[in-house]
Amino acid sequence: MTSEQIQTLLADMSLQEKIGQLIQLTGVFYAGEGMATGPMSEMGLTREQVDMAGSVLSSVGAARLKNIQKTYMEKQPHHIPLLFMADVINGFRTVFPIPLAQGCSFDPELSREMARVSAREAARTGLHATFSPMVDLVRDARWGRVMESTGEDPYLNGLFGSAMIRGYQGENVGEKDRIAACVKHFAGYGAPMGGREYNQVELSERTLRQDYMPSYRQGVEAGAELVMTSFNTLGRVPATANRELMQDILRGEWGFEGVLISDWAAIRELLAHGIAADRDEAAYLALRAGVDIDMMTDVYANHLERQIREGKIPMEWLDASVLRILNLKNKLGLFEHPCKDADEAYDGAADIEPAHRAFARKAAPETFVLLKNDGILPLPTAPTERVRNIAFVGPYVDEKRICGSWSLFYNMEENVTIQEALEQARTLTVPVSWAKGCQVLDYGQERDGFRDHVKNTCGREELEAMEAEAVRVAREADVVVMPMGEHHEYTGEGSARTEIGIPEHQMELFRRVYAVNPNIVVVSFSGRPLDLREVSRKARAVLQVWFPGTEGGHAIVDTLFGETEPGGRLSMSFPYNVGQVPVYYSELPTGRPHLDGAADGRCVSRYIDAPNKPLYVFGYGMGYTTFSYSPVTLSRGDMVMGKKAAEGSALTAAVTLTNTGSRPGTEVVQLYIRDMAGSVARPVRELKGFQRVTLGPGESRQVCFDITEEMLRFYRLDMSYGAEPGQFMAYIGSDSDTQNGASFSLRQE
Ligand code: GLC
Repeated sequence: MTSEQIQTLLADMSLQEKIGQLIQLTGVFYAGEGMATGPMSEMGLTREQVDMAGSVLSSVGAARLKNIQKTYMEKQPHHIPLLFMADVINGFRTVFPIPLAQGCSFDPELSREMARVSAREAARTGLHATFSPMVDLVRDARWGRVMESTGEDPYLNGLFGSAMIRGYQGENVGEKDRIAACVKHFAGYGAPMGGREYNQVELSERTLRQDYMPSYRQGVEAGAELVMTSFNTLGRVPATANRELMQDILRGEWGFEGVLISDWAAIRELLAHGIAADRDEAAYLALRAGVDIDMMTDVYANHLERQIREGKIPMEWLDASVLRILNLKNKLGLFEHPCKDADEAYDGAADIEPAHRAFARKAAPETFVLLKNDGILPLPTAPTERVRNIAFVGPYVDEKRICGSWSLFYNMEENVTIQEALEQARTLTVPVSWAKGCQVLDYGQERDGFRDHVKNTCGREELEAMEAEAVRVAREADVVVMPMGEHHEYTGEGSARTEIGIPEHQMELFRRVYAVNPNIVVVSFSGRPLDLREVSRKARAVLQVWFPGTEGGHAIVDTLFGETEPGGRLSMSFPYNVGQVPVYYSELPTGRPHLDGAADGRCVSRYIDAPNKPLYVFGYGMGYTTFSYSPVTLSRGDMVMGKKAAEGSALTAAVTLTNTGSRPGTEVVQLYIRDMAGSVARPVRELKGFQRVTLGPGESRQVCFDITEEMLRFYRLDMSYGAEPGQFMAYIGSDSDTQNGASFSLRQE
C-alpha cells in the first residue's frame, strides 16, 4: 500500500479498531497454545477485543498462523492483517550458541549469518518479527539474562546488535525469509541492583549515555523496526512510562520512527511500580511515553477508549501509534501477502536444512573459550603411549538440553549430544568410555522452564550407583573429560543467583573423580560466567562452551580432538568469586588504584580477602597454538584535533603478530585505548578495535589499527560528546590485561 492509502485506512478506522491495533496477545487466544512468561492474570478482555488485536506473540507453525490470519482478517472490519512475533533469540529450529557465547567469537559477521538463518526458518513458520537482539550491557554475573547479551563492552555489543539486525532484516524486511528485528530492553535493563531480576537500575546520566546507551542507539541506526521497553526503573521512573527515554532520546535525539512495544505486562506493572494509581493512569502514562503496543495486558484494551472520548488522551497519540503499526505491517508487505513466507512444507520438513546444521557445527567452536590448558588438549584421536583411552564423565555427556533458556521452538531430538558425537566420530580410534555420574539437577531439584518443567527424578540409590560407576570408569582411563555446569533453566529471565559456582553436587563428583584421576579436562556449560576457581586450580584444562546449540555435541568433540580450535575470547569477565560482582575490565582507576600484588598498604582500592582482578579477564582465551606480539609502533606521536585524517587527525598503531606454535591458529588481536586524563574520570582502558588473524606455524604478519579522533570522544564534563586534548595510551594484545602499549597525544592545532 502507498502511504496515502495507509493514511486513508487510518482515517476510516473506528476508535475500537485503532485501539485493537495496540493490543498484543499470545496465540492461546486464537485457538493455539502460547508460551506464557510474566504475570498473566485475568485479562478481562471480550471476544470482540481479542478479534480486534493487532498482533500475536509466541505462536508458530505455518499452518496454524495461516489459519489464524485467515480467520482473523475475515472478522477484522478493514481486513488488516495480524503481526506474528516471537522470541527467536539464538535460533529457531537450528539453534546456535547463546548470545553471550556469540559475543565471545569477536565475530559479528558470524552472528549476522546466524540471524539470517534464524530469520529464514522463523519466516517459513509464519513469523514476521523477532524480539531480538537483546543489546543490554551486562556486568553482573548474578543476573540470569547475561546469557542473552553479548557481554560487558559497549563497543562489542553495538557491533553484534547491528550485525544481528542486518541478519534478520536484510536490506528490506519485506523480502523473502526476512523478519523485523526488535532492539531490547530499552534501557539499562542489564544493570539491576544486586543482579536481581526486574530490580531498580541506578545509573548516572553520564554512565547511562557513555556505557549503556550506545548499543541501543546503534541498533536504531542499523534500522531495527521495533524497540522494546524494559521492566526496570531508570532514575526511579519505569522505562515503560519514561517520556524522557522514549520521546526525548529514542524518538527525538535518535529519530526512531518504528514501533515501540512494551515488554510482557510492563504497562500494567506501572501499578506495581507505584507510579500509576490505576489502569487509566497506566494507559495514559504509557501512551504518552509513546509505547505503541501493549504486550499481554488489558490496559490499552479497556482504558484508552473512555479517556479519548473524554478528551483526557489526545486522539493524536493513538493515531501516531496506529500509524507506526500499520507502517510496519506495510513494510513487511502484509497487506498484499498476509502470510508472507509461511511455508508448511519447509516448516514441517523431516530434518533441519543440512546447510544450517553444517553451519551450526562449524560456528559453535568460534564461541568456545579455552580458559586453561597445560597441553593436554587437543586430545589424540588415536591411542598413544600416554593416552590409551579416554573417559567422558559428567551430567552433560548425554544431555540434549544444550540450547539455552531462550530457545523455545527447536525439536529436542535434533540436538546432538557429546555421546552421540563420539558414537558418530568416524576418525576416532582412541577407545572412549562414558558415564553420566550425576544429573545436571541435584536430587529432587525441579524448576518450571519456559519450554517445560524440568526435574531430577532419580532416587538416591540410583544416583549413588551412577556416581560409583563414573568413578570406576574414570579410574580406568588415562584422561577424563568432564562435561558439567549449570542447568539452562537456571539462567535467562527470572534466574538471578547469589552463588555462581558449578552446582555443588556436580563438584562432589568432580572431587571424587579427581581423587582417582587428576588428568581432567572440564567442559563447562553455563549461561553466565561461573566461579570456576576450584576446577581451574585442579583440572588440566577448562573449556567454556556456554550452551552451544543444536550441533553442540559435534562441535565440542571436534574441538577436544583438534579437528578445530576453540576460537572464543571472553566478552564478559569471569569473577574470582561472586563477591567481586559487578566486575568488568573498563573500570575507573579510582583515586587509590591498586594492582594485585602491589605492596601499597591498607588504604587503597582493594579487597583484603580476594584479588581485584577477575579469575579470567575480558578478551582472554587460548587456542591450540601460541602467538607473540612485537611492541606497539605508532605512525606518529600525536594527532591534531579537528583535522581530517590525511592532515593528521589519525594515526596508525601496529604490531607484528607471530604464530610461535606448531599448529595453525586464529588470534583475536585487540586494541584498547586509555585516556590518561579528561574533564571526567576515564576508564583504565576501552576496547576500540579487534581483528581475527589466522596464521600458520611460524608465520608473522603486521596487524594495523587506525586510531581516529572519533575513538577518543566521550561525554565530557558539560555532557557534550567530543574529544579533549591530552595524553593517551594505545595497547594491542591478546586480552584486556595487555601491557603492550605506546603513548600518543591529541593536541589542539
Ligand atoms: C519476556 C522478556 C522479553 C520477551 C517477552 C516476550 O518477559 O522480558 O525479552 O521478548 O517477554 O516473550
